[in-house]
Amino acid sequence: MAKYKIAWLPGDGVGVDVMNAARVVLDALKLDADYEHGDIGWEFWKTEGNPLPDRTIDLLKRTDACLFGAITSLPKEEAQSQLVPELQCKGLTYSSPIVRLRQEFNLHTNLRPCKAFAGNPLNYKDDIDLVVFRENTEDMYVGIEFHPVPDEVVDVLVKHQPKMKRFAATPTDEMAITLRINTIKASESIVRQAFEYAKKHGYKTVTIVEKPNVLRETGGLVLRTARKVAAKYPGIDLWETNIDAMCMWLVKNPQDYGVLVATNMFGDIVSDLCAQLVGGLGFASSGNIGDNYAVFEPTHGSAPKYAGQNKVNPMAMLLTVKLMLDWLGELDMGGRLEEAIAHVIQAGEVKTYDMGGNSSTLDVAKEVSRNL
Ligand code: IPM
Ligand code: MG
Repeated sequence: MAKYKIAWLPGDGVGVDVMNAARVVLDALKLDADYEHGDIGWEFWKTEGNPLPDRTIDLLKRTDACLFGAITSLPKEEAQSQLVPELQCKGLTYSSPIVRLRQEFNLHTNLRPCKAFAGNPLNYKDDIDLVVFRENTEDMYVGIEFHPVPDEVVDVLVKHQPKMKRFAATPTDEMAITLRINTIKASESIVRQAFEYAKKHGYKTVTIVEKPNVLRETGGLVLRTARKVAAKYPGIDLWETNIDAMCMWLVKNPQDYGVLVATNMFGDIVSDLCAQLVGGLGFASSGNIGDNYAVFEPTHGSAPKYAGQNKVNPMAMLLTVKLMLDWLGELDMGGRLEEAIAHVIQAGEVKTYDMGGNSSTLDVAKEVSRNL
């Protein structure tokens, strides 16, 4: 029996292409693992009305970790129209399988390193080294939404929040409500992990990205919690920033920042910005990490127009494999993989179209393997 059992979820679009690349590298590293394929993604939404079938949840429960490619997500109406006719009128609603996985497995921490590799022609500036800690299970993405808004919900809100009167006369199908929920527990956990990371890797600051001047209750609670955590780490400063200004500062002076920590939605936003600073989504890796289980995925989406063309940059996926190896405790393999990736980027000979080359996804994976 192999040492590890890894759930293998390519998903759809270019998810399949980059997972093939991941496999080339994992085989070259000789990770002692069995890979078990799981169904997830658009195809299963269309044919089964569920993009994350129960059998896939069961598979994850039987494995040590999961590697995931990408999935297509479309807005409500388009999702409905693509269901097979038998499922059309069943009142099914599409919800993002990755968001569901994060919540069902309590993968509370989304770790997103964004490092400018030397020699990458796509670096916005050199020497950028950012790591985003994104809270992954709550905030605006809890999935508690109303449309139309039930009358009882309007009544309760008017009772407790006089400002709601403004909307009370609006027909309930002419407005929508999405809840933002943040807890001290999750906020404390994500900030603590950011500080622990800063301590371990010698960063002198942790920057929290919020909006407490407007989102006074949720943002306020998160910020107060962050300050409490920060007090336990003398020698590491907490920099408090607002999401809007932070986007500007990151473009202006990205080298001034290191470890960033944010609630779910602001973390989502800021991590794409950080990714672009170091070459775009083709370089952005991520790990959804819980106490005993983790799902690793490149930050990029499924890019359907490139699906199956063996064309997109696999670096994000290969860096994601490195995160998985580290999390499994295979630090030596993880380190070798990152060095090989850095070497291939620096050499600049084998590169995909986004970097100005014409190598394929698999060419890059093979070149990285050759350099291990
Ligand atoms: C990400 C993605 C997802 C998110 C989508 C695909 C649901 O943007 O992982 O950043 O919003 O979290
Ligand atoms: Mg995102």
